[in-house]
This record gives sequence, structure tokens and C-alpha cells, in this order.
Amino acid sequence: MQIGPLKLHGNILLAPMADVTNLPFRLLCKKYGAALVYTEMVDADGVIYHSRKTISRLASCKDEQPLGIQLSGSSAKGLNRAARLVEAQHGPDLIDINFGCPARHIVKKGCGAALMNDPQLMADIVGQVSDAVNVPVTAKLRVYDDVEQTLKVVRMLEDAGACAITVHARTRHQNYAHKADWDVIGAVRKELSIPVIANGDIVDEMAAQTVLEQTNCDGIMIGRAAIGNPYIFRRIGHYLETGEFLGPQDVNEQLDDFFEYIELAGKYDKLDYGGIKLHAKWFTRGLEGGRLLRTKINAAEDIDEVIGIMGGF
Ligand SMILES: Cc1cc2nc3c(=O)[nH]c(=O)nc-3n(C[C@H](O)[C@H](O)[C@H](O)COP(=O)(O)O)c2cc1C
Repeated sequence: MQIGPLKLHGNILLAPMADVTNLPFRLLCKKYGAALVYTEMVDADGVIYHSRKTISRLASCKDEQPLGIQLSGSSAKGLNRAARLVEAQHGPDLIDINFGCPARHIVKKGCGAALMNDPQLMADIVGQVSDAVNVPVTAKLRVYDDVEQTLKVVRMLEDAGACAITVHARTRHQNYAHKADWDVIGAVRKELSIPVIANGDIVDEMAAQTVLEQTNCDGIMIGRAAIGNPYIFRRIGHYLETGEFLGPQDVNEQLDDFFEYIELAGKYDKLDYGGIKLHAKWFTRGLEGGRLLRTKINAAEDIDEVIGIMGGF
């Protein structure tokens, strides 16, 4: 897949996920074949005012490239400025704009899915950010209740300069209980000439194949199914290439991935207690005895204890 001038070696992408897709986790997804990885969403004001949390979310390294930095903000001016700064200071291969986050604290600030109420502002943002940087600018959004409205807005974003669109095929009011509506992604694909990336409920090999066939989209983006399971990129990639199922990862390899995560977290200064606990629990998903392990991890008082519990499994 190619996004503007950026050529990717594949079309299976890791979704941006707050508190999940930090640098060590992205490196693991990359190891298993993710063609493009994204930072967690990065607040434009945080970039402009040098917030410590924001700067930490921008940590990156050469090995994970190509990297997409996802920005969230509420104004074209602020996002333009933040995009210039991240391009100069962090050298991403692509900048993505978040138009889809429905979280209350984000929408309250006029960011994320709140912007879907003002398509002209969305287009201005894409236009101004595209003018500000040399790397391709993309947009990630949810769908509207009305398919025609979705098509109108994605067309405006393409006309404003977006180099690709990621469609999370749920409305901003639907939580994960609703199944993603892949037909809308197919309609978006037909409407646009830039690449369209399908997102929502791509959880395994069959889902990946079905969404590609059903929508004719250019790429697929995997979110929740990759949490604690970066190996999913290898499984899906292998199946799409060969038609063979690799099957689930071996338990020891799954634990090895967790310890690699710890090593990378140490190397890149991401060894925070809360984050390690969360990732440890995610890496035990699907393991026999995983529930007991998670109970023990919950009660662990520091990182060493978490590591000891995982090591003793
Ligand atoms: C924990 C979590 C954090 C997320 N954070 C972001 C984010 O920072 N930016 C964004 O565009 N979407 C975010 N999302 C949405 C995902 O990128 C993706 O669109 C959504 O989970 C649907 O894909 P899936 O069905 O493969 O999970 C987040 C989702 C989860 C579960």
C-alpha cells in the first residue's frame, strides 16, 4: 500500500490506542509484521506547551519506522502548529488526525468525534495540517448514522488534501457492543481515489480476508485484537499471503513477548507500574490459568513482583 509518497511493505496496520500503543508495544507489533504503527493520540496543546505526558507519548526510535503520529485537537491553527513541531522534532513518516475519539474528556474539549459535527472545520484542519508539513496527512474517523453524510465528509477530506482515510465503521454513539458496519467502508472505498483503511472488528484471519473482499479497501487496521497479542500481525499476514492458518501462538512465546516488552520498556524508559501491570494482564489473555495469574498481578505491589509472577508461570 502507498500513502502519498510513503510506500509501505504491507497493508496491515496497528491502530492508535491510548495507553496501549507506546513505543515498546509498537516495536513488538512491527516485529510481527505491522506495516505501519501509530502513536497513541497526542494532544496538540500538549505538543505546543511541552506537556510531560505528551512528550513521553512521542518517544520513538528508528527500528519502528515507518511511524504515524496521531494528533488530536480542536482547531486548525493549533493542529497546524503542533504538526509543524512534531514533524521538526520527531520526524514521523505520516501525521494522522483523530476525528473519531468519542471519550467524554476528549469530546468536551471539542476534539476527536466532536469535530464530526463540523465537516468544514475537519476539512480546514486537514488542509492546514497538509500545508504545514511535508509528510502525508491522513484522517481517522467514525461513520455517521447516514451513509450519504459519511460519503460527503470523506470526499471533503480527500479534496482538502488527505492522503488516506481510516474508517472505524461505527458511529460515535455506538460502543463496542455494536458490530462494525463494513458495508459503509465499501461505500467509502468506491467514493474516493485515495487509499481507504478499514477498521473495526478485524480480530482474526477470516475477518481480515472478509473485510478486504467485502470492501475492496486498501489496508486493514487492527486495534483491540492486537492488545497483548502482537503476534496477530504474523498470523493474519501469513494467512493472507498463503491461505494457511498458523494457529495460536505457543504459550512460551507469548510469555517471551511479554519479557521482550519489559526489556524494551526498560530501554525506552517506559517502566511505569500501572502500564506494566496492564500489559502483563493483557499478555496472559487466552492462557490456561490466565485468570488466576491476573488476580495475582492485580495484587502485585511493584513491577518486580509483576515480573516474578509472570516468570513463575
Ligand atoms: C484502549 C483503546 C484506546 C484507543 N485509543 C485511540 C486513539 O488514541 N486514537 C484513535 O484514533 N483511536 C483510538 N482507539 C480506537 C481504535 O484505534 C480503533 O479504532 C477501535 O478500537 C476499533 O478497532 P478494533 O475493533 O480493531 O479494536 C482506541 C481503542 C481502544 C480499545
